[in-house]
Amino acid sequence: KTLNVDIDIHADQTGPVINKDVYGQFAEHLGRGIYEGVWVGEDSAIPNTRGFRTDVLEALRAIKVPLVRWPGGCFADEYHWREGIGPREDRPTKVNTHWGGVEEPNSFGTHEFFEFVELLGADAYVNGNLGSGTVKEMAEWVEYMTGDKGSTLANERRANGREEPFDIAYFGIGNEAWGCGGNMRPEYYADLYRQYATFLKTPQGKRPKFVASGGHTEDTSWTDVLSKNIDSNIDGISYHFYTLPNSDWDEKGRAIKFSEQEWFKTMERTYRMEKYIRANVAKLDENDPEGNIGLYVDEWGTWYDPEPERDPGFLYQQNTLRDAVVAAVNFNIFHQHAERVTMTNIAQMVNVLQAMILTDKEKMVLTPTYYTYGMYKVFQDATSIKFNLKTDKYKRGDKTVPGVTASVARGTDGKLYLALVNLDPSNSADIDLDVAGANVTRAVGQILTADAMDTRNTFDAPETIAPTAFESDLDDLTIPAKSVVVVELK
Ligand code: AHR
Repeated sequence: KTLNVDIDIHADQTGPVINKDVYGQFAEHLGRGIYEGVWVGEDSAIPNTRGFRTDVLEALRAIKVPLVRWPGGCFADEYHWREGIGPREDRPTKVNTHWGGVEEPNSFGTHEFFEFVELLGADAYVNGNLGSGTVKEMAEWVEYMTGDKGSTLANERRANGREEPFDIAYFGIGNEAWGCGGNMRPEYYADLYRQYATFLKTPQGKRPKFVASGGHTEDTSWTDVLSKNIDSNIDGISYHFYTLPNSDWDEKGRAIKFSEQEWFKTMERTYRMEKYIRANVAKLDENDPEGNIGLYVDEWGTWYDPEPERDPGFLYQQNTLRDAVVAAVNFNIFHQHAERVTMTNIAQMVNVLQAMILTDKEKMVLTPTYYTYGMYKVFQDATSIKFNLKTDKYKRGDKTVPGVTASVARGTDGKLYLALVNLDPSNSADIDLDVAGANVTRAVGQILTADAMDTRNTFDAPETIAPTAFESDLDDLTIPAKSVVVVELK
């Protein structure tokens, strides 16, 4: 069986710009996400650039990471920034009580984070500690990072080796306040947010976008209450939604060797993102009709059961073709909501959950998710193009998801791009494409696909799956089952 898909593109009708920050990433002090994954220290035998893994830096530069969120997550609300500045040998060792109870040496702190994002050419999203930190502590961190006068805090930064202030693109005021960030009610958090945000002072023109910590999954009450009760000092409300194949935190589902039923459940869960974003955006449209507040999906991705031999507190998991398809489905949803969804962060960058990169000491592999980011980088800051899509469904029992989803945009290079993802693991899709307003006949780009649903790269076989060239006449466009395709229409 083949899926039938009709796509009508109106190349002369533009929509909102797809903010490059939709392609942001999350790097938390969790498992081997920072230590080993990013930071090995200058004395390591692993080749490094001033302590940062050179292989990881190069790989991340190639996919143009625009934004990195740090230091958490749940870790952010236990993080005390003073412990991560000054000579590394003098920094205290703490216990990472949230993630695995391991020692946290604090050798990756504020200066290392900014050096890392500057080496990547990315912007910084710093998440402050509201859950267990004071207003004073948060305000002083912001002054330490951004102060340009001769204040004691700005001078302390200078003494620690950084003359110029750091640029912060986004600043999060707490994380998951409904859970690990303090188990609060939204009304209480809204008041605390108003208080903390009041005292975060920066030099003129240097104020980051302020992010309120919002809700998750199907709940819209946080978006509703925060957008009603916070009327200044706010640029976005965060929203978290993870793909757990079984929708069950005790038995999430396996990362590899899964059945087609689990593939379907993964797609069905992922596609709920569309409904949930729509519901949150509807609250914002009601409470913020001027459109000042963004919906920042600053944690999303697949979350599987840990492999039996791994530390369950480290959230390390393998990454397969299924993850690549999940990423593309999410990108296509985010693009549909480009006006409000102007920033997202996949969880997470290296060695944690749906990672770009996995490392095993000196070894590194690039995951199928990494390649999806690479293929989609042409959508960063691209201008959406209007299109209508009708598709056969991919069904199991009484549940369905679209067989194919898509994105169309004009890149910053002026080229017209089409992305297609086939969610169905067994059936190819015939794409009947009609393009008005542009004289195009060919699709030229890349495809990511494989025979097995759980095809993956491993340390022993690191090049099992990678994108390959894709080219087709537009009047004969077919994409295989379980594939991600990004092409220029020319
Ligand atoms: O990404 C892992 C964790 O998931 C984050 O620390 C937390 O914010 C969320 O619950």
